[in-house]
Amino acid sequence: MNDFYKNKNILVIVTGGIAAYKAATLVRELIKNEARVRVGMTVTAQEFITSRTFAVLSHHEVLTDLFQANEAEVMHIEWAKWADIIFVVPATANMVGKLAQGIIDDAVTSTIIASSAEKVIAPAMNDVMLNAPAMIRNLHTLKSDDWLVIEPDIGFLAEGYDAQGRLPEPLEIINQAAIRLQARIGRLAGRKIVITAGGTREALDPVRYLTNRSSGKMGFALAQAAVELGADVVLVTTNSRYKIYGVREVLVSSTRDMHAAVLHEFDNADVFIGAAAVSDYRPVEAAKDKIKKKSGENLTIKLMQNPDILAEVGRHKTMKQLVVGFAAETQNVLEYARKKLIQKNADMLVANDVSTTNSGFDSENNRVTILSRDEDPEIISLSPKIAIARSIMDKIAKKLA
Ligand SMILES: Cc1cc2nc3c(=O)[nH]c(=O)nc-3n(C[C@H](O)[C@H](O)[C@H](O)COP(=O)(O)O)c2cc1C
Repeated sequence: MNDFYKNKNILVIVTGGIAAYKAATLVRELIKNEARVRVGMTVTAQEFITSRTFAVLSHHEVLTDLFQANEAEVMHIEWAKWADIIFVVPATANMVGKLAQGIIDDAVTSTIIASSAEKVIAPAMNDVMLNAPAMIRNLHTLKSDDWLVIEPDIGFLAEGYDAQGRLPEPLEIINQAAIRLQARIGRLAGRKIVITAGGTREALDPVRYLTNRSSGKMGFALAQAAVELGADVVLVTTNSRYKIYGVREVLVSSTRDMHAAVLHEFDNADVFIGAAAVSDYRPVEAAKDKIKKKSGENLTIKLMQNPDILAEVGRHKTMKQLVVGFAAETQNVLEYARKKLIQKNADMLVANDVSTTNSGFDSENNRVTILSRDEDPEIISLSPKIAIARSIMDKIAKKLA
């Protein structure tokens, strides 16, 4: 589910290529994402798939002819105004050429040129057509006209061999378009956010480590919420729990690895959010070989302090950078959190009580209090982690604005 499309008006233009059948899945996926969808087709597209398929899928009449409306209504202008986003999927070489040159000779081209919607185009064709000088020129023109071009995949073409020209899968098209459109129009567009997730692992020997109960779910929810607002997100994580489209993952294991990765990424970042549960201590020495059991003897492991990632980021930050910490406590949660906010030079601290079983570590839900230097504490009662992440990201976007 991609919230980006929710309640948006999306016009899907289908042109006459062999991949036209995939546009039916694209329409279904957009509807699943709660978009309102209408479809326009070229005359040639109707040789490949019928307008009835799209009328049924979109629950709406399909635009196929400039003169199909009743005489009082100028349908292409109405539809052009209605659309928030126009997808041309698949786009033939012919349509790419017409749009690049401004040739307006049918219902769909008339609608596209009359619309100020965001425009996405996914060309699909034979590899020789794709590499023709005119095609290269035309695609270049569309990009400089602010069209968002989804590049064709390399894969098995209808011609029976592997080459570039294949239409990417519909889900890939809508995910890629959402990320790239958010990066244009989202409230955190152009902002780099570094987030940590998961519990760090401190090696005892080659097979054992010390860790904690953190699952990383809160960090992943924050990454998702940041991407939804168009941020450029780097997730420094100890596990690859989910694949979030548009998030750059840096996989680490120990606190020292996480510390190095965070400092490296923070340099040109706008925001750091420390949602990982980092180990305060690590074994002084990790044994080279597996520690053997010595019968009847206790084993003492000496621990030393790890670097304090949040404090160090707080020390390094400039006036323009925001630092957000998390405090997972089991007692006096607010008191510790308030101290941590000041001691670590953070701008915001999210305090969660991990003493209960239905929130916090490894749970889908959380209940938190958000402390900021310049605002009253905000209490968020038991809610899904993604909802909490969106509230935090909303506050961050406001602070950055
Ligand atoms: C069987 C068949 C498959 C075609 N597949 C493609 C294609 O994948 N991509 C493309 O650019 N043109 C393809 N064409 C050529 C277009 O249909 C042709 O250029 C047409 O004029 C496009 O019209 P339109 O852009 O108005 O839809 C195909 C033609 C045929 C007969």
